[in-house]
Amino acid sequence: MFLEGKKIILGVTGSIAAYKAAILIRLLVKEGAEVKVVMTPSSKEFITPLTLSTLSGSPVLSEFFNQNSGDWNSHVDLGLWADLMLVAPASATTIAKMANGIADNLLITTYLSARCPVMVAPAMDLDMLNHNSTKENISKLKKTGNFIIEPATGELASGLIGKGRMEAPEVILSIIFDLFNSKKKLKSKRVLITAGPTFEQIDPVRFIGNYSSGKMGFELAEKMANQGADIKLITGPVSIKAIHPSIETIAVKSASEMYIECIKLFKDVDIAIMAAAVADFTPKEPSVEKIKKDKFNKVIELVETKDIAKELGLLKKTNQILVGFALETHDESANAIKKLFSKNLDFIVLNSLNDNGAGFSHDTNKITIIDKNNNIEHFELKSKAEVANDIVTKICQLL
Ligand code: CTP
Repeated sequence: MFLEGKKIILGVTGSIAAYKAAILIRLLVKEGAEVKVVMTPSSKEFITPLTLSTLSGSPVLSEFFNQNSGDWNSHVDLGLWADLMLVAPASATTIAKMANGIADNLLITTYLSARCPVMVAPAMDLDMLNHNSTKENISKLKKTGNFIIEPATGELASGLIGKGRMEAPEVILSIIFDLFNSKKKLKSKRVLITAGPTFEQIDPVRFIGNYSSGKMGFELAEKMANQGADIKLITGPVSIKAIHPSIETIAVKSASEMYIECIKLFKDVDIAIMAAAVADFTPKEPSVEKIKKDKFNKVIELVETKDIAKELGLLKKTNQILVGFALETHDESANAIKKLFSKNLDFIVLNSLNDNGAGFSHDTNKITIIDKNNNIEHFELKSKAEVANDIVTKICQLL
């Protein structure tokens, strides 16, 4: 957890992008931050306070006065409490009010009382963003020391395409990491990650594959990018996309394509993580034509693929770290330890298919990390994002 103990006020305003505030809160809380949400009155038309209070684990603040207790919500206390105030999404109205000190709601009074850094993530239609008034207000906010998280370009709620989308929560998270960790743990480290399954062609319409979703490898890529690493993510066919701008995705299909890319890149990286479920066998002679039922002799001859992890283990220099995975169904630790040494890994992440919620098709995983010095660490069942954190922490210890 990289935001342990950090106190963050999240200001939510009236914008279609308000739903992204929910995702943002989850990410912040997962990283250990304490989040208090302040909503403008109109934001409640877009997302309910109940959703945001449940996710943040703290009552959402919106009114100056608390009707039930008769107390008032002190924007001064809030402003002093926070290590960071983030307004996301920030509507044109809220930006205008912030820029001009129009303190007619709790979000603006909190902003005016805040002594911490303030980040603003605008979200609006492209013409509103482009309007001189908005531009002037944003530039005023910049000049007075606020940090603007530039909106991204893409399809907007209006159906128009252009600049105005609130930046992705994962990217905002990484910017927050930047703020708090001027010394990022993996700054300028070059990392190679394999992810997903491989598809081994039988004929132009059929293949041998597996159920790997790629989630574990992609989570690792996002976490490590957040810590300043440059990532080459070599992925087999998956339905997910990497978000962080420091992740370069290289899409491959087969084990041999993955092998070629890994060999090409390995010499230039500091860390390589083999999270892909690489096929161990591939058809010896894939048919160039679709195999017809009446011509098929019901046997597909297979040959072994290259063991990418093992090959990289042979090439590994002393200043490189190589991490592997082992998904086992029996004799789990013994099998994992065998792989750890035969592939010359620095540590192996073991998950057992006998544990409920672990393995390919889940969003959760239960791992054991075994390193080459025989240190064994067992972890609870967690989301793959949290598991990725544990793996990154182990890598940081080795560095
Ligand atoms: N691996 C690899 N290339 C292969 C096979 C496996 O890079 N051709 C990597 C995986 O990405 C993983 C580790 O090796 O990090 C262990 O993979 P696994 O399939 O569990 O082990 P295998 O060596 O293939 O052994 P087995 O399938 O017999 O368990």
